This record gives sequence, C-alpha cells and structure tokens, in this order.
Amino acid sequence: MIVTIDGPAGSGKSTAARGLAKRLGFEFLDTGAMYRCVACGVLQKNVDPADEQAVTHVSQQIKITFSGDRVLLDGEDVSAAIRTPDVTDAASVVAQYPAVRQELVRLQQRAAEGVDIVSEGRDQGTVVFPDAFCKVFLIADPEERARRRHEELVAQGKQITLEAILQQINERDQRDEQRTVAPLKPADDAVEINTSRLTIDEVIDQLEQLVRSRINSE
Ligand code: DC
Repeated sequence: MIVTIDGPAGSGKSTAARGLAKRLGFEFLDTGAMYRCVACGVLQKNVDPADEQAVTHVSQQIKITFSGDRVLLDGEDVSAAIRTPDVTDAASVVAQYPAVRQELVRLQQRAAEGVDIVSEGRDQGTVVFPDAFCKVFLIADPEERARRRHEELVAQGKQITLEAILQQINERDQRDEQRTVAPLKPADDAVEINTSRLTIDEVIDQLEQLVRSRINSE
C-alpha cells in the first residue's frame, strides 16, 4: 500500500508524512533527502551543479541509504550536511536534470517494492507512484511557510530575516513549478490540504483519518 504526500517546501510535508507513517506502521521515504544527497555529493566532489553531465555521473555513482532517520551518503552520515543552505540551493538545481530524476525515481520505486510506505516529495503522486492507494497534496501560504522556516533557523541560532526567507521560498517554488520534468503539481486524484492554520498534529490527524477511511471502504 502506497501513500504519497507531495507539496512545496515548508508545507509541513516532511514532519506530517513521517508522523503519518509512524501512526500507520508504514515505512517512510524522504525523496527530498535523496536529491539533497546528490547535491551534497556534487559539492563534496567540487563538481559544478550547473554541469548536467557531471552531476548525472555523480548521481549514478553515489550510494544513498537510510538508517532509521539518518541519511547516509556512501556510508557517511550526512543527515545534517544535507540541510545546509548551499546544499538546499544545489538540490533544487540538480533536481531539474532528467537523468538525475530517472535514477532517483528508479531507486524510489525499488524502495516501495513489497512494503507499505508513505512517500514524500514533489512528484510522488504524479510520476513515481501514479497508482498509489492514497495521494495527498499539502499546501500552505508562502508567508506562513517563511514564518515556520524562520522560527526553525532562529532556534538553531542562525541570523536571517523573514523577508530573505520568503524570497528564497518564492524562488525555489518557481524553480520547482516551472521545470520541464516532473514539475511540482498535484495529481488529478490527490486530496489537497491547506496546512496554514493547522498544527502539525491536526495535519497528521486529518491524514490518518483519510487513509483509514480509504482502507475501511476497500
Ligand atoms: O523536500 P526538500 O526540500 O528536501 O527537497 C529538496 C529539493 O529536491 C527541492 O528543491 C525539491 C527537490 N525534490 C524534487 O524535485 N522531487 C522530489 N520528489 C523531492 C524533492
């Protein structure tokens, strides 16, 4: 059984999808972390993220593994390294390349073979798992997403203005929505939930209700 959760950065997708998987006893797949690993590998090897061929080569050479909630790149724990602003930026560049996407889609489909899984990303319901049992598209107002991200960074002791974050979010959305391959958009049969005015627990409650009611009506 496959549940897909797609949506833009800061929609609460990651935390919600992880929480939902836990409640359902399903596996969890963070596909954004996989694009981040490619970006991290690219930067570690001093490859220019704009060099499509070289980036594609890196994506085919590296080994990405998940161990609990840790992410390993060629055996090295990169859970923190993949969340830095440089990697975040490079990830949205490398995610535009068709051959990189093809490679990661293949790995994502393989990870879902024979298991119940909640898979989170941008194209899970549209491209990777078009026949998923239940598809969700989470959205939130850009201002609210910027506010959440700002709160997170301030808690980590980082200094950045809310305006700068809002600008970054808008730029990243634009790149994700306008790329030619697998742009960010809801699947026709996805249920859309706006999380702007919901707590994370309320979002998980709604998701759990949705999946359980689908299971019961099978
Ligand atoms: O969800 P995230 O912020 O960790 O994603 C990192 C980048 O990868 C972001 O620019 C969108 C991209 N991405 C993608 O293109 N397709 C996915 N399935 C997941 C993430």
